[in-house]
Amino acid sequence: MRRAIYPGSFDPVTNGHLDIIERGCKLFDEIIIAILVHPEKKSFFTIDERREMLAEVLNDIKRGDCVLRVDDFQGLLVQYAVAKQANAIVRGIRAISDYEYELQMALMNRRLEPGIETVFMMPAEKYSYVSSRLVKEVFQLGGILDGLVPALVQKRMKEKITNR
Ligand code: PNS
Repeated sequence: MRRAIYPGSFDPVTNGHLDIIERGCKLFDEIIIAILVHPEKKSFFTIDERREMLAEVLNDIKRGDCVLRVDDFQGLLVQYAVAKQANAIVRGIRAISDYEYELQMALMNRRLEPGIETVFMMPAEKYSYVSSRLVKEVFQLGGILDGLVPALVQKRMKEKITNR
């Protein structure tokens, strides 16, 4: 049983995240998409909103026999991974600029918990510049997000602004 954790803020989930999950499904029997609960950080969507959107958009993923779950966690990622009996942590790497930070995290996580491997995966080139941070910025300045995030996410972002 190969179980991986795919951690992140997912604020919001992008097509780049979904691309990584789909690729991860070729390697793992189960992937737990784990949203970091970060009380001090100002977020666009609440944890519950992010969980709900993720669960919904995962229905459209080509997963084969891979089981996909959505969860949230607090504290150290490796402690959470051990508690879930996961063998690996999946992280997406878009560009060399991601690599330095990701390498630091992977090595720190390995030091904390040598039994868990970090697996870096590359998204499709068309998502290599997509990040949740840029998606929010473009949205807030009125730009179009077609093809960058699932339609449901765009809809929820519009609803959020309208209800403010
Ligand atoms: O999508 P993000 O926001 O870049 O994800 C970052 C995340 C959640 C992977 C990272 O912040 C994390 O693992 N936080 C949990 C706290 C932790 O374990 N810190 C030590 C990492 S070396």
